Amino acid sequence: MIRSEEGCRALRERRSVRRFRPEQIPEEDLRTILRVAADGPNARNLQRFHFTVVRDAALLDHMAELIRRQMLESGGEQAETASRPGYSPLHHAPTVVFVTGDLKSSFHVHTDCGIAAGLIVAAATELGVASCVTASSLFMFRGPEGEELRRRLAIPEGYQCVCTVALGYLDGELPPRPEKKDGVITWLG
Ligand SMILES: Cc1cc2nc3c(=O)[nH]c(=O)nc-3n(C[C@H](O)[C@H](O)[C@H](O)COP(=O)(O)O)c2cc1C
Repeated sequence: MIRSEEGCRALRERRSVRRFRPEQIPEEDLRTILRVAADGPNARNLQRFHFTVVRDAALLDHMAELIRRQMLESGGEQAETASRPGYSPLHHAPTVVFVTGDLKSSFHVHTDCGIAAGLIVAAATELGVASCVTASSLFMFRGPEGEELRRRLAIPEGYQCVCTVALGYLDGELPPRPEKKDGVITWLG
């Protein structure tokens, strides 16, 4: 086992990034990131998750617009977010990974997918790649184009999207650390 204080510091200093440079991350790095997630812990090692990588800028723009439209139609808080000038739900990231799972098979699959998304973020951080987990992307599957997009993304039959992870290189400064609550850890002994 390698002990890496530096790796832990990088993880603590990680921030969700919403401004990406247009340049693509190397395919080799992306393969490493996805391998880390695919090899991660999951209930009974059944690996009932799937990762779909989208790097086609035109398709990402199309999907971002569909998500934005569905958010606007939903009303409430999400509509308010979507109506902010310049808002783009996938943050113009050059790579987006859709994390999907066979959610009907077991409630553990949600956990498996969450861990997988976390590992994608952690591995990306180790490789100097910025990331943002996004759940607003789920709006994409609500609209009339949802089923067609599922097919286009080759999401396995019966699988549902849990979240997406936007990946790319940070554009500008790292966002400030948001306030984090104390008291989320209890020690006994
Ligand atoms: C399940 C989940 C869903 C999220 N959904 C979104 C989202 O739709 N859009 C977004 O910009 N950020 C999203 N985030 C990122 C969070 O807003 C972010 O992690 C949180 O504000 C803490 O900031 P930090 O990651 O910089 O520590 C999501 C994060 C998680 C784990």
